[in-house]
Amino acid sequence: MTPVLFTGIGQLVTNDPALGAGPLGTIDGAALLIDAGRVAWAGPAAAAPAAAGATIVDAGGRAVVPGFVDSHTHAVFAGERSAEFAARMSGRPYTAGGIATTVAATRRASDGELAANLGRIAAEAAASGTTTIECKSGYGLRVEDEERCLRLARRVTAETTFLGAHVVPPEYAGRADDYVRLVCTAMLDACAPHARWIDVFCDRGAFDGDQAAEILRAGGRRGLAGRVHAGQLGPGPGVRVAAEAGAASADHCTHLSGADVDLLATAPLVATLLPACDFSTRAPYPDARRLLDAGVTVALATDCNPGSSFTTSMPLCIALAVREMGMTPGEALLAATAGGAKALRRDDIGRLSPGTRGDLVVLDAPSYIFLAYRPGVALVESVWRAGERVPNRA
Ligand code: NIG
Ligand code: FE
Repeated sequence: MTPVLFTGIGQLVTNDPALGAGPLGTIDGAALLIDAGRVAWAGPAAAAPAAAGATIVDAGGRAVVPGFVDSHTHAVFAGERSAEFAARMSGRPYTAGGIATTVAATRRASDGELAANLGRIAAEAAASGTTTIECKSGYGLRVEDEERCLRLARRVTAETTFLGAHVVPPEYAGRADDYVRLVCTAMLDACAPHARWIDVFCDRGAFDGDQAAEILRAGGRRGLAGRVHAGQLGPGPGVRVAAEAGAASADHCTHLSGADVDLLATAPLVATLLPACDFSTRAPYPDARRLLDAGVTVALATDCNPGSSFTTSMPLCIALAVREMGMTPGEALLAATAGGAKALRRDDIGRLSPGTRGDLVVLDAPSYIFLAYRPGVALVESVWRAGERVPNRA
């Protein structure tokens, strides 16, 4: 693989304070060398290494930021729910009841249809700057359907999450404990080989604290680390259960008690905020300022799914977090990159310092602030993953 030397970078965001200014480690007038898919050198252009034989890419004064790490999506599904969205926008509340519609469509779909849909979504995400994507199951809710959803997701990403405990499927109505038993036994057996993580939707209308804890324990016995959907629809035990289980991340965090904030600040637990979901469900936005001021590590992710958040755009999440959640543009970019990496317990992504993967976005803008300053504008000039240019979408 030929090394690539980026020159003419107007502003490089490394997320490594040792390399540049502030928490984002920014360097003005920078160069960046990627060799064998990894960052080999980053610094002021005047000090760039000779790099004989490297392909030279002139960024033309543009800003370069680490690739976005979207640490929470539900991208394996069939069908769409635009009518449900329209009904919500005319006043109907979001109850998660529509999940059953997507479960029915996903069960009916062939592997080929699911793979094609997932491929479209992954390509769309990559085109908007996402270089690492997490992907959950959760629309199969039968052993064979959860297994195939994860098997297909694994072709697209290593960050796969078993979410058999999304909701109780219709055939188990009134028998939630029987369904939890299935999730913890045959379904987990079939899914664990294709998954790195296990997740539970711990909220009203889904699973309670005891059920969630049992599911996370069962996953842990099979080597799956935990993540929890917590505090989306109302206050509840999700954050506590996540902390007690040693989970990597509590996600949504729209409704948090003071005790939840204290736990998030002390446990090694990332708060993953999903502003596009709050946008699309007309929910209140989580108070990111309160979390950051308490010392919580925050990640931003899309929650991409056909019900509550049908977007793959991390730039949209950054803009919403800045405008609606009290984050500065720098904090939002950090949360969308290094924060996502922490939520996935990865130290090889989310930064551009020597040894990390060469995942980056060249912005058609002189500074990262434009991600929030020019909302809704396609600012991604090019995307590079492991030092290779991601093809533009056809
Ligand atoms: O994270 N809250 C649970 N699951 C998804 C929504 C799924 C759906 O509505 O289809 C979420 O928002
Ligand atoms: Fe989700």
